[in-house]
Amino acid sequence: MPSLLHIDTSIRRTSSTTRELSSYFADEWRRDRPDAVYTYRDLAVEPIPHLTSAVRDYIMNPDGDHGATAEERAHVDAVAAEVRNAPIVLLGIPMYNYTIPSTLKAWIDYLVSPTAMVAVGAETGPLRPTEEISSEGSR
Ligand SMILES: Cc1cc2nc3c(=O)[nH]c(=O)nc-3n(C[C@H](O)[C@H](O)[C@H](O)COP(=O)(O)O)c2cc1C
Repeated sequence: MPSLLHIDTSIRRTSSTTRELSSYFADEWRRDRPDAVYTYRDLAVEPIPHLTSAVRDYIMNPDGDHGATAEERAHVDAVAAEVRNAPIVLLGIPMYNYTIPSTLKAWIDYLVSPTAMVAVGAETGPLRPTEEISSEGSR
């Protein structure tokens, strides 16, 4: 079953170049795949909290003595499951101060883990090419 995870990060709700581009891609992709699974996450509206030591301990060893709250664990599990279940990840990313929005960095910090993405000792995991739509300056 084709599946697309679409993530927007622009702080602008209107007149956003990246939102316009990513929604155009998503609409075209879905038009050709009416039965596809589509998941949308808006990190500007519902940001992932910044990484903490407790959350990192949970990411590295979910069964260990981590101290992460149920809400924090739910965020980690949801982010990892969304990426694992979507063969295509579409990211709308404006450039902010020569880098990605901090909301996307927080999402990456919650996502990237040996346990969820790449098995310990393995050289590769389910990480794969990503469709990225970025925007900077007046472009
Ligand atoms: C906080 C902030 C920082 C930005 N920093 C840069 C930058 O370092 N370089 C750049 O070329 N554009 C920068 N821009 C411009 C945005 O990348 C540009 O307006 C982009 O189109 C915004 O995406 P959006 O239209 O989807 O909101 C910045 C904009 C904001 C709001």
